[in-house]
Amino acid sequence: MDVIICKDPAEVGRTAARRVMEILRRTSQPVLGVATGSSPLDLYHELARAVGAGEVDLSNLSCFALDEYIGLEPNDPNSYADTIRQTVTEPLHLDPARVHVPRGIGEDLDQGCRDYEEAIRVAGGVDVQILGIGANGHLGFNEPGSSFGGRTHLQRLTEQTREDNQRFFGDRDVPTHCVTQGLGTIMDARHLVLVAMGENKADAIAAACEGPVTAMCPASILQFHPDAWVVVDRAAASKLHHHWVEPVGVTQ
Ligand code: F6R
Repeated sequence: MDVIICKDPAEVGRTAARRVMEILRRTSQPVLGVATGSSPLDLYHELARAVGAGEVDLSNLSCFALDEYIGLEPNDPNSYADTIRQTVTEPLHLDPARVHVPRGIGEDLDQGCRDYEEAIRVAGGVDVQILGIGANGHLGFNEPGSSFGGRTHLQRLTEQTREDNQRFFGDRDVPTHCVTQGLGTIMDARHLVLVAMGENKADAIAAACEGPVTAMCPASILQFHPDAWVVVDRAAASKLHHHWVEPVGVTQ
């Protein structure tokens, strides 16, 4: 695991975007795993800037989102399908047919989960997966106690996660259940880039990077990944004790 501590959230976005582009440029049919939430927004802005400036060609890019709420139509503004459209597909000028989000509505959602796994496999697997982290250490919507070997599945959200995400829903109730890639699915990605900022992520980052590997902190499984970058601002890094060094070859 490499932990890169940046001076502020904007630098987190730039640093993580550089890493993501470096990986995507290596292949002609790149596959990017995308997260929703606030944390990756600066990263997506930086990718959009780079696409606009001609620094990277993402015209062949395929994307797979981590998760979706159950019961929301894809055109619902609170659905992750719509969020990904607004924050990733349109700003990066991607072909919508290549951008995939788990299905949270319709019949046989378990079959939808199996189909999603198959679609990732057919695309050749994820080259680089962007991740945020929950204040409780969740990855995707794999809440504490989730199986380290899990595949895409239906999951009940914890009350903490529902409260944390209420800010996106205004007066509406946050759904109680979701579809999420499993921790096993996430760990299959060839490279991982987790971004986190703010003091409310400091405990989760410390537990994930320096605590024991335990299902009670799902993000601690990153310690087993051969190429996981954790890019954080100083506030999110404030409870780390180890002296993390900048990896060779990275210019901040
Ligand atoms: C989103 C996701 C979640 C978020 C996490 C942090 O697709 O899978 O794990 O990354 O809840 O959310 P923010 O970034 O809003 O603090």
